Amino acid sequence: TIAPVRKICCIGAGYVGGPTMAMIAKQCPDIQVKVVDINEARIAQWNSDTLPIYEPGLHDVVVESRGRNLHFTAEVDEAIAEADMIFISVNTPTKDFGVGAGRAANLEFIEKCARKIAEVSSGHKIVVEKSTLPVRTAEAVKAILSRASSGATFDVLSNPEFLAEGTAVEDLLAPDRVLIGGESEQAIQALVEIYANWVPRERLLTTNLWSSELSKLTANAFLAQRVSSINSISALCEATEADVDEVAMAIGTDSRIGPKFLKSSVGFGGSCFQKDILNLVYLCEFFGLPEVAEYWEQVVKMNDYQKQRFVHRIVRTLFNTVSDKKIAIWGFAFKKDTNDTRESAAIYICRDLLREKAKLCIYDPQVNPEQIRKDLAAVLKNGDSELSQASAQLLADNVEIVSDLKTASKDAHAIAVLTEWDEFATADFASIHDSMKKPAFIFDGRNVLKELPLAELGFEYHGIGFRR
Ligand code: NAD
Ligand code: UGA
Repeated sequence: TIAPVRKICCIGAGYVGGPTMAMIAKQCPDIQVKVVDINEARIAQWNSDTLPIYEPGLHDVVVESRGRNLHFTAEVDEAIAEADMIFISVNTPTKDFGVGAGRAANLEFIEKCARKIAEVSSGHKIVVEKSTLPVRTAEAVKAILSRASSGATFDVLSNPEFLAEGTAVEDLLAPDRVLIGGESEQAIQALVEIYANWVPRERLLTTNLWSSELSKLTANAFLAQRVSSINSISALCEATEADVDEVAMAIGTDSRIGPKFLKSSVGFGGSCFQKDILNLVYLCEFFGLPEVAEYWEQVVKMNDYQKQRFVHRIVRTLFNTVSDKKIAIWGFAFKKDTNDTRESAAIYICRDLLREKAKLCIYDPQVNPEQIRKDLAAVLKNGDSELSQASAQLLADNVEIVSDLKTASKDAHAIAVLTEWDEFATADFASIHDSMKKPAFIFDGRNVLKELPLAELGFEYHGIGFRR
C-alpha cells in the first residue's frame, strides 16, 4: 500500500504550478509543498511581495502558507529527492523547429523533468503530469522513469489543470471537476485524498491515463470552438443587421447549448487555446486522421480571420487610411484581470495597424510596458532572428505606451478596445471625446461599451457582431 502523501514537489513555478500548489498548501496544512524552478528570478519573485503573476486573490493564498508548508526554491534536486509526489507543471509550448514545427508540442522540458526525477529519486514516488500534454506522453515518461539507475519505482498519473487565468483562485477553490487518470488504483487514491480535503468527492473524476491526457486537449478545443463559432456568426450579423449578443442569448438559453463562452470578441488569445488545438491537429495527422485534423484547424483559422476582420473594419471606416493617425489601444492583456499577454489578439491587431503605419498609444492597467514592446518586437520580427531596420523604426516612432486612458486617447482618431477591463466602461467619455480628433471613432472589440450613450456624446461607435 502507498502511504499518505506528506511531501509534494512541483516542478515549474508558472501560472499553473504557483497557484495550484498554493491552493494545495492552503487546504492541506499537513503536507509540505515545495515549488521549484530553474528560473531563479521567478523563484525570487514568488518569495517577494510582488508575485510574478497577477491573479485576483492569489497574494493572500500564497502569503497564508508561504514559509509554513509552502516553499519556493531553486534547489530542484533536493526537493524532488525528498518528495513522495512530484507534479510536473512545466511549459509545453508549440515546437518552433524541426518535425512538427508550428503544431506539435515541444516536450523537451517534460522529458528533462522525467530524466531529472529518474536521476535523483530513490524508493517509490508518484509522478503527476499537470502540464497539458499530447495523449500518450505518459508512455514516454514511464519509459524514462522505469530505467532509473537507482532502482527507484514510480507510478505515473495524469491530472490536467482546468483553471482559467484571471479566475485561477476561484477555479482552484471550487473546480467543476478534478480529473485524475492513472493505472494504479492506489496512486489514484493518494491524489484523490489530497483534493478531497476541499473538493466534493463527486467532482473527483478518475479515468484511464490516456482519457485524462486527451480530455485536456479536447476541453480546450471545445471551448475555443465555441468562441470561433460565435465569432463566425458575428461576421454574418454585421452583414444582416442581426445582433450577435441577441443571437448568443437566444441560443444560450437552450440548456443543451448553455450560455457560457458565447461572447463574441476580437478573437481568443492566451497561451493555450491555439497551442492546444494545433497540437490536437498534429496528433490527428500523426495518427492518420487528416479529416479530423482539418476539422479542428478551422477553429484557429476562424480566429485569425476574426482578428484580420477587425483591423480591416478600422481601416475601412477611417476612410481607408490610418497612416500617421493616432489610434488609442485600450487593453493589451488577452483577457481582463491578468497581466498575461501570451497570444493576445492585441499583439496581432497592433502589428497589422503598425503595418498600415498607424501611430499607436497603448494603455493596459496590468501589463508591463516592457512586455508590450517585447511582444510587438517579436511579432514584427516574423520569425527572423533580427528586427529589420524598418520594423525597429516603426516600433520606436509609432508605439507609445502610457499609464492612463486619457493620455492614450488625447488627439486620437480612434479608440480600439481590445481587452474587457472593467474600468473602461466607467471612463469619462465626455472629456475623452473633447480631446479626440473628429469624427471620434470607437471600435469595441469586446462589446463592453455597447450599452453606453456614446452616440449622444458624438462618438461613432462600432462593436463586434452588430451594426447601428
Ligand atoms: P509557465 O511558462 O508560466 O511556467 C512553466 C515554468 O516551468 C517556467 O517558470 C519554467 O522556467 C519552468 N521550467 C521549465 N523547464 C523546467 C525544468 N526542467 N525544471 C524546472 N523548471 C522548469 O507555464 P504555465 O502557464 O504555468 O503552463 C504550464 C503547463 O500548464 C502548460 O503545459 C500549459 O499548457 C498548462 N496549462 C496552463 C494554464 C494557464 O492558464 N496558463 C492552464 C491550464 C494548463
Ligand atoms: C482556458 C480555459 O478556459 C481553461 O479551462 C484552461 O485551463 C486554460 O485555457 C488552459 O489550458 O490554459 P484561459 O486561456 O486562461 O483559460 O482563459 P479563457 O477564459 O478560456 O479565455 C481564453 C480567450 O478566449 C480569451 O482571450 C478570452 O477573451 C476569449 N473568450 C472567452 C472569448 O472571446 N469569448 C468567450 O465567450 C470566452
